[in-house]
Amino acid sequence: DEKEIPKNLQREDDEETMNLISSLPSDVDFDGKELFKYQGCWYENKILLGILNFQRGFEPQDTDIVIASFPKSGTTWLKALTVALLERSKHSSDDHPLLLDNPHGLVPYLELIFKTSKPDLTNISSSPRLFSTHVAFQTLREALKNSPCKIVYVWRNVKDVLVSFWHFQCAIRKIEEEGSMLESIFESFCRGVISHGPFWEHVLSYWKGSLEDPKNVLFLKYEELKTDPNVQLKKLAEFLGCPFTVEEEESGSVEEILDLCSLRNLKNLEINKTGKMPGGASHKIFFRKGEVGDSKNYLTPQMEERIDMIIQEKFRGSDIKF
Ligand code: A3P
Repeated sequence: DEKEIPKNLQREDDEETMNLISSLPSDVDFDGKELFKYQGCWYENKILLGILNFQRGFEPQDTDIVIASFPKSGTTWLKALTVALLERSKHSSDDHPLLLDNPHGLVPYLELIFKTSKPDLTNISSSPRLFSTHVAFQTLREALKNSPCKIVYVWRNVKDVLVSFWHFQCAIRKIEEEGSMLESIFESFCRGVISHGPFWEHVLSYWKGSLEDPKNVLFLKYEELKTDPNVQLKKLAEFLGCPFTVEEEESGSVEEILDLCSLRNLKNLEINKTGKMPGGASHKIFFRKGEVGDSKNYLTPQMEERIDMIIQEKFRGSDIKF
């Protein structure tokens, strides 16, 4: 039987879209927010509208680059690194784009741009065009049609992702960090009913995508970026078709980019200390500790054990190592 049309849908959203959304399975997350399952992952209806518009209306260019991730997995860092890579040698030290805007301002989310059904993309200043997304691989692939765009995915240990997510939710709400909210978020993650989740399906979708199409899909791990940044940055540069020359390597260009994009440096830039997103959130909430294993300080041994069991089951048969 027919479900009710979700609240928050605007009048101009066409009937077909509303019918589609209201026919999807729905559930609620840790916050009581209604989510809809679309192509294997959960999204809130406003985001879903953007995703549907994006899939229908995006006109990809073959040179487009898309940075993809599950939220709180290192997106901001990867955006900064990619901008710095592509912009290297184009700027003096005081007119670098990263000094003038937050990485999220420089690399917009496609599903957010497409909240308006016909966004104007002519003002995208980067060349090649740089976009980002939090949608799962199959959903992105559909939007990119058959265009050979480059997709770079960053993933991170789910325990650190969920603890980072909790801190972020508290920061957005401007509230003290509460254990009870961590527990609710933990349950949502374990059930998989979390915006853009289940985490495992998200990661596995890009992992499979990168195996099937390694030329166009790069699968990076946050922890490896932390332990081996030089190697990973060079890998990214090669994948994007802009490898470092011997001269660049000898003149310290790799280290320069890593320094510019380090958490300490980005966090201390004026634009990130005082700037705000168009929606009002402070830029500074995107920069916290950036430590591997910080979740140990917050999750109980029982919580860790439960997640470990889920990981074991969900990633069995893949070569993904946590
Ligand atoms: P923590 O909350 O564990 O500190 P995303 O960018 O996907 O929202 O992920 C946010 C996480 O990346 C946060 O993790 C944040 O501190 C970390 N981060 C942000 N910028 C970073 C950088 N330049 N280097 C390393 N980690 C960074």
